[in-house]
Amino acid sequence: MKLEELLWSDRQKTGQSGYKILFVGSEVMPYAATGGLGDVLGSLPAALAGRYPKCDIRVVMPLYSAIGEEWQQKMKDEAAFNLSLAWRRQYCGIKSLRRGNVIYYFVESEYYFGRDSLYGHYDDGERFAFFCMATMELIRHLEFWPDIIHAHDWQGGLSIVYKNLLCRGIEGYDRIRTVYTIHNIEYQGQFEHDILGDVFALGDEYHELLDYHGKLNLMKAGVCCADRVTTVSPRYAEEIRTPEFGRGLEYILNENPGKLCGILNGIDYDYYNPETDPALPVNYSWKKIDGKYKNKSALQKELGLPVREVPLLAIISRLASHKGLDLVCEIACRLVSENDLQLVVLGRGEARFEEFFTSLEQRHFAKVKTIIDYNRELSRQIYAAADIFLMPSKSEPCGLSQMIASRYGAIPVVRETGGLAESIKGFREVDGELQGNGFTFAEYSPGGLLECIMAALSLWQDEKKRRAFIKKIMQVDFSWDASAKKYMEVYEGLFRNEGGGRR
Ligand code: GLC
Repeated sequence: MKLEELLWSDRQKTGQSGYKILFVGSEVMPYAATGGLGDVLGSLPAALAGRYPKCDIRVVMPLYSAIGEEWQQKMKDEAAFNLSLAWRRQYCGIKSLRRGNVIYYFVESEYYFGRDSLYGHYDDGERFAFFCMATMELIRHLEFWPDIIHAHDWQGGLSIVYKNLLCRGIEGYDRIRTVYTIHNIEYQGQFEHDILGDVFALGDEYHELLDYHGKLNLMKAGVCCADRVTTVSPRYAEEIRTPEFGRGLEYILNENPGKLCGILNGIDYDYYNPETDPALPVNYSWKKIDGKYKNKSALQKELGLPVREVPLLAIISRLASHKGLDLVCEIACRLVSENDLQLVVLGRGEARFEEFFTSLEQRHFAKVKTIIDYNRELSRQIYAAADIFLMPSKSEPCGLSQMIASRYGAIPVVRETGGLAESIKGFREVDGELQGNGFTFAEYSPGGLLECIMAALSLWQDEKKRRAFIKKIMQVDFSWDASAKKYMEVYEGLFRNEGGGRR
């Protein structure tokens, strides 16, 4: 087949108008994930493929050794080559798996990805440069010429940079449009300058493009090179243009104002479904919420908490300071000692928070349980068991936990920031009608959080209202439906006014 026939503009003439889209990211559920990015890359491509069956949607991620045997055994070998990156030439394999209508590719390199954790290695810059270069090579080797590369977070940023700079002048690549999504501006991928040529394989002429405040900044480079930039909620798209939230990148985002838009994430409605979730001791739905209480006693028993009908509060979070945990630390002792309630904390991260919550459990062992872990099964058991879910983030690009909590009937208590402000509306009672789908507070202060929790606890005390409110929040639509459509509008926008896909 000629390259011409592979291009969207030409296929459109023959009625095959669906886009070919390659998602590029460092984690994808259910293969390997450490947070929300994995959720999104595990569910958005499938949601798009379901809604737009003419589209050909594929996803590429590294083949980490953390990916379970059950998946690895099913993978098909697609290609093997030696990949050149700066002065290195190393083996690179490409494997694939099909799940539903989506093809997932895995970049194999024992040297870079055969390690015990996804991130946090001294050579992360080099690892993800290799991954992005392998993505360019995959396109040529497999002759899968996408219309759009949709790259995510700093780990995917170099794929757009390489497409624009190193593959420039090669027809197939020149026609590819690019979208870059920022999932969290806190993690920008910053490296020392001396690795520009040696590791990233980029000449000195590109120094300025990657440089930001004296460091190489891969998120900045992704933003500058991409045709469109998105982030994971409209409010966060506004917030990151300001010094308070932009983490220094606000200047760059403001230089490219027309490029950026925000689209709220959805959650995978098949996976996060209390009616069918295999991790739950008892399944339940908004029509029959009694099962929720059985999950609560099962969890209390499992964790060694007294099996009692007291409000169960939960935190499931990366233990990082922007998640608002400073506020929790300030009020936790008082909250726990002055109220008859239980608190379960699941997460790992900064040592100071791990230590705080561990010692809180030691001081209040009949009320608090802390599990330092990232455990998806247990997290769903906690969502199902919890009455109230705490997410007082200082900043929150989108947040998925509040949506999952809502679907599992755990009342979210959130701070009004980013995607939290857009997905959770404060509880109000107007003429006997219960409005909103959670409890919210605006000012980032311990007092604000405590007051908000107390309001949620007071609703909890009124059993009739509590049950009605739980039924209500469980029915709020957080599926991908609306957002998948918005992504498609972004993709369509890339081809508008551009003479049928030529550039
Ligand atoms: C990051 C953000 C979170 C967002 C997720 C998926 O983890 O911190 O707010 O929901 O990415 O986009």
